[in-house]
Amino acid sequence: MRLILLGAPGAGKGTVAKLLTKLDGSVQISTGDILRGAVQAGTELGKQAEAFMKAGDLVPDALIMGIMEQRLQDPDCQKGFLLDGFPRTIPQAEALKGLLVKLGIKLDAAVSIDVPREVILDRLTTRRTCSNPACQAIYNVKSNPPKVEGVCDKCGSPVIQRDDETEQAISKRLDTYTEKTAPLVDYYRGEGLLMSVATTSSDDVVNAVKKKVGL
Ligand code: AP5
Repeated sequence: MRLILLGAPGAGKGTVAKLLTKLDGSVQISTGDILRGAVQAGTELGKQAEAFMKAGDLVPDALIMGIMEQRLQDPDCQKGFLLDGFPRTIPQAEALKGLLVKLGIKLDAAVSIDVPREVILDRLTTRRTCSNPACQAIYNVKSNPPKVEGVCDKCGSPVIQRDDETEQAISKRLDTYTEKTAPLVDYYRGEGLLMSVATTSSDDVVNAVKKKVGL
């Protein structure tokens, strides 16, 4: 499948993407994970992105498009991909449209996961993430804790709270989402690609996608 996952920070894009990859070998492409990996590795990309991320701001479009143009041409994308956290602005969506035409790729849908704000705030303060850039498994101290506190079930690395999970950064990320990313819902409606799922259950989203793509 070839999908865009839309939704506010904490809507569950990463959680749903990880479930969907198990269905047909599609890969999850999370620009957030790529950027966090780069920050941790201290690469040039990471140095350029770090301050924006910590403050809850978006990283400049040009940096993101450079990453995505390369990533979408990797061989593992041939079975399909789930774009998690990209595009994030109208210019990114327009650039992606051009890129997909150039690569001869057609999207199945842009899936918008709609979750109430109070649920989102609760989830973001209780989320924990594996610190290993190659793993980045997602946990939640309330709904999905690791078996051993602070240790990743999958790779044994420390499970941590992300740098952008301070109250101030969360509030900024939600404002940035409303201003810059929420308009993509109308954009993809106009493109005839929008599929909206209003639910707090990741399984509901997965089932709606399965129906849509015929799995
Ligand atoms: P990014 O990593 O993309 O963060 P985000 O969009 O803020 O999304 P999140 O990862 O916070 O949430 P999610 O929807 O994936 O939720 P999750 O599944 O983890 O981006 C981080 C930063 O990078 C940005 O602020 C920006 O600076 C930069 N960036 C990234 N992409 C960019 C781009 N394209 N352009 C410019 N800048 C970019 O779930 C959240 C929690 O809820 C977890 O604890 C989970 O266990 C729990 N949960 C999920 N589903 C359920 C459920 N059904 N029931 C109970 N709990 C649940």
